[in-house]
Amino acid sequence: MKIVSVVGARPQFVKAFVVSRRLEPGHEEVLVHTGQHYSDDLSAVFFEELSIPDPDYNLGVGSDTHGRQTAAMIEGIEAILLEESPACILLYGDTNSTLAGAIAASKLDVPIAHVEAGLRSHDRSMPEEINRVLTDHVSDLLFAPSDLAKTMLEEEGITDGVHVVGDVGYDAIRWARGRAAGRGEILERRSLEGGEYVLGTIHRPKNTDTPSRLAAIVDALADAPRRVVVPLHPRTETALREYGLWEDAKRDLEIIDPVGYLDFVELLEGAERVVTDSGGVQKEAFYLETPCITLREETEWQETVDCGWNRLVGADRAAILEALRSTSWPRSAPSFYGDGHTAERIVAILEDAIDR
Ligand code: UD1
Ligand code: UDP
Repeated sequence: MKIVSVVGARPQFVKAFVVSRRLEPGHEEVLVHTGQHYSDDLSAVFFEELSIPDPDYNLGVGSDTHGRQTAAMIEGIEAILLEESPACILLYGDTNSTLAGAIAASKLDVPIAHVEAGLRSHDRSMPEEINRVLTDHVSDLLFAPSDLAKTMLEEEGITDGVHVVGDVGYDAIRWARGRAAGRGEILERRSLEGGEYVLGTIHRPKNTDTPSRLAAIVDALADAPRRVVVPLHPRTETALREYGLWEDAKRDLEIIDPVGYLDFVELLEGAERVVTDSGGVQKEAFYLETPCITLREETEWQETVDCGWNRLVGADRAAILEALRSTSWPRSAPSFYGDGHTAERIVAILEDAIDR
């Protein structure tokens, strides 16, 4: 079968490569990179490390307003779908690249398969929440990572084509652990001792685009009981500079460029805890049994909160510090998101559905 897969942003390269490896024998995958992420450390490094072949198409849309960026992607993806006539389009997660693929394919009646269906934060001010909801409502095959995600879909009246398959991110972590284990490279390079530092990632618009929130986060991290290493997303650097917080952040935190996936997994596994507003990092922390402090008021990975591994603290300085100092975290992590064989399951369901 011929499948068009659409990726565009960092987390999508990580999700897509595990499925691509399973599709490779016997199927034709046409890989489309929208170009939403284009900096080497947000894009090229993942293609190299994860041995992802060069995309068949790169739309090179770059950064822009949401409307213009999404529109440019829709136009580009539509032309590719007309050219390639695939059996289906495969979409990942919740970025503007996901939504663009969903709109282009739904208008052409190309069947849509959505990996990470049913995730909900219930915060419609998040661009990702809009992207998820709209994509799920036009999808034909919905690959939900958990029973809770399936329930979320049911609550919106979506029951056909839903399959609980687990999380492709867990497949990726298992793959990466095998490779990252024992490398110790990034810890050595940065003179970091396992268990002796806090890892931080910040890039959600609610935090980067609200000066008081970003200031409170930087302020709390500056008082953390351990060294704080922050591989910084470019939008956060821009915001810190704009709000006059850059000098404080540079002085009090160990700010580094974004790192590749293998280095990131190593940093996350070695961290005493992680402070993040990322979606993907919350459940990666859970898989690696690193306590997670989430700089948001809600999460789409609610199971990690319910079992005690993840604490939602928003951008409240006191709550962040309390969580950083807390010693009560669970001892072991239950399994909510599959067994690490999600990609195989997705490919088998795709084969079956397309044959029919
Ligand atoms: C996007 C996704 C978000 C995802 C994140 C992963 C949407 C709406 N947002 O957010 O869901 O969590 O990717 O990291 O799809 N920039 C660069 N180099 C790049 C790309 C961006 O410097 O390669 C800078 C630009 O200044 C740009 C800003 O980062 O304006 C934001 O980029 P954008 O792709 O719009 O959103 P992200 O915040 O990366
Ligand atoms: N990640 C990475 N390097 C970094 C930060 C994150 O490789 O410096 C990986 C991380 O392991 C996860 C993904 O990028 O797989 C998460 O991306 P991000 O936090 O940008 O997006 P989100 O998951 O919030 O959409």
